[in-house]
Order: sequence, then structure tokens, then C-alpha cells
Amino acid sequence: MEIQKICVAGGGRMGRQIAMCAAIYGVEATVYDLVEAVLTDVEKWADEYLAGRVAKGRMTQEQVDAIRARFHTCKDLRESVQGVDCIIECIIEKEDVKREFFKTVDQFIDENVILATNSSYMVSSKFADCVKNPSKMCNMHFYNPALVMKFVEVVQGPHTSEETARAVYELCQRMEKKPIWQKKEIPGFAGNYLIAGLYERAKYLVENGYCTFEEVDIAMEYGFNHKMGPFRLNDLTGIDLSFTMMKTRYEQTGVKPDMYDVYEKLVQEGRLGRKTGHGFYDYE
Ligand SMILES: NC(=O)c1ccc[n+]([C@@H]2O[C@H](COP(=O)([O-])OP(=O)(O)OC[C@H]3O[C@@H](n4cnc5c(N)ncnc54)[C@H](O)[C@@H]3O)[C@@H](O)[C@H]2O)c1
Repeated sequence: MEIQKICVAGGGRMGRQIAMCAAIYGVEATVYDLVEAVLTDVEKWADEYLAGRVAKGRMTQEQVDAIRARFHTCKDLRESVQGVDCIIECIIEKEDVKREFFKTVDQFIDENVILATNSSYMVSSKFADCVKNPSKMCNMHFYNPALVMKFVEVVQGPHTSEETARAVYELCQRMEKKPIWQKKEIPGFAGNYLIAGLYERAKYLVENGYCTFEEVDIAMEYGFNHKMGPFRLNDLTGIDLSFTMMKTRYEQTGVKPDMYDVYEKLVQEGRLGRKTGHGFYDYE
């Protein structure tokens, strides 16, 4: 299924930019918000943003007119979700408020409409019992500013169908994002989990099957503008050095570090990183 018409609920920092990004790439997008003043501000912001694109020579007036015709605001929820394929929830980061929103909006849509949440930390499982068709619910986590940042996490919960995750993932690709598709939920998802104690947690994610090591590097390179993700960087600093440190820690604590076996195998195979031409990645 191809998503062609969306409603973005919440016209704050994230919501308006996500809706604009969709409109730029040919999707009909309506921003819904509880607060009328926010919608007035969104209309003004949209005009100014698009005028700025023309002034900077990044878009033609014709392109901007077409985008503006696809970008709408609406203060009535029922009307906002009329005929949409997907709703992207971007309201405040409060579980009870989001739960209430999903319960309400579910009354206005049929069971085929996708419900994606842009929550920063909450997995969509937390809201699965609020809707009649949880298979249509997933996380779609953009980074701020959403018009600029390429990285998006699509997170498939145990309730989420493959078709739902794929449709959301493909929408990200159409918006020229660099998405990853996580097939197992974790609070904070790849990016925000990683940034705290990056290497420790990077290894935990991979060890436990939440992401591949390539996806961890994509997260840091495209989500946080790190020049290299931790595993690519580790190829540069040397797998053998890291393994030595892991081994020492294992001997001292008796606690086996995450990915210990992976590092041991790489060392045994002589895949020590860039210096040997192979590590996590292969080099010319
Ligand atoms: N700001 C970031 O850096 C960032 C990044 C990624 C994800 N997020 C997530 O995106 C979501 C929105 O964040 P934001 O920074 O845009 O917040 P924001 O405060 O700028 O905007 C939230 C908007 O939601 C509206 N709202 C509140 N309750 C509503 C309801 N019941 N129905 C409709 N509208 C309602 C508010 O009027 C407000 O305009 C949060 O879940 C946040 O965690 C934020």
C-alpha cells in the first residue's frame, strides 16, 4: 500500500515540519491541533518557509504553489482524518494524553488507517489497546529538525503488521529520509538509546537483536551527524584493541560483555579493521 494522504496530529516543532516534508514529496498533508493559535501560526510558518525556498533559489514558484496546495491545517479532528491513509501523532510526550488521543481518533477512522506515533521514547505497544486494529500501529520517529534530519526510526511492535511497517518505511524513503526498520521494540529506539553510553549500549542493541551493527552506524551517522558510527569507528581504532579491553573487563568482573563472542571471532579471523582490510566492514 502507498500512503498518499496523511493527517499529522500536533502542529508544534515536529508536526508542522513532518507534514511539510510529506507535502514536498507529493503527499496530501493536514496538520491538526487542539489549539487554534497553533494552526494560525503553522499557516504563517508554511508561507514563510516556502517563500524562503524560492528566495534562496532552492525551489521554483510553481513547485512551491503545488506544495502549498497539498499542505492544509484543520481544527476539527474528524474532518482532519477524512480519507487519510495514515495519521502521524506528534502531540505532547505524555502517555495519558496520547492514549486519549488514540482512543478518540480511532472512532473516526476505519480499520485500514495506519496510526504512527512520533513519540521520543514510548513504544507503540503502550497504545495498542486504545485502537480497534493494533496491527496498523507503529512508531515513526523523526529527528529534529524533521525537514533537515534524514534519520527516521520505523519500529514494528509485536502487534504491528509487516505491511504497516513497510508502508511507513516506504513513505520515509519517498521523503528521501534514511530510515531503519526495527523489528523489535525498545524504549527510545535506536538513536536515543545509543547516545547514552554509546558503545555499551550499541553493543547491547546488537547482541540482543534489536538492530544490526550496520543499523547502529546508520543511526549515528544519519541521525546524529557522527562522521562514523561506533562500529565503523571501531574498524578504524582496531578490533583487536577493543577485544583486549573487553577481555580484561571480563576477567576482572566475571561478567561477559555484550558482543564478546563476535569480537573474539573477528580477532581469530584476522578481521582487525581497516588495517587488515576487513573488520565489521570490508575495505578496498
Ligand atoms: N522536539 C524534538 O526534538 C522531538 C524529536 C523527536 C520526537 N519528538 C516527539 O514529538 C512529539 C511532539 O513534540 P514537539 O517537540 O513537536 O512538541 P510541541 O510541544 O512543539 O508540540 C506539541 C503540539 O501538540 C498539540 N497538542 C497537545 N495535545 C493535543 C491533542 N490532544 N490533540 C491535538 N494536539 C495536541 C499542542 O497544542 C502542540 O501544538 C512528542 O511526542 C515528542 O517527544 C520531539
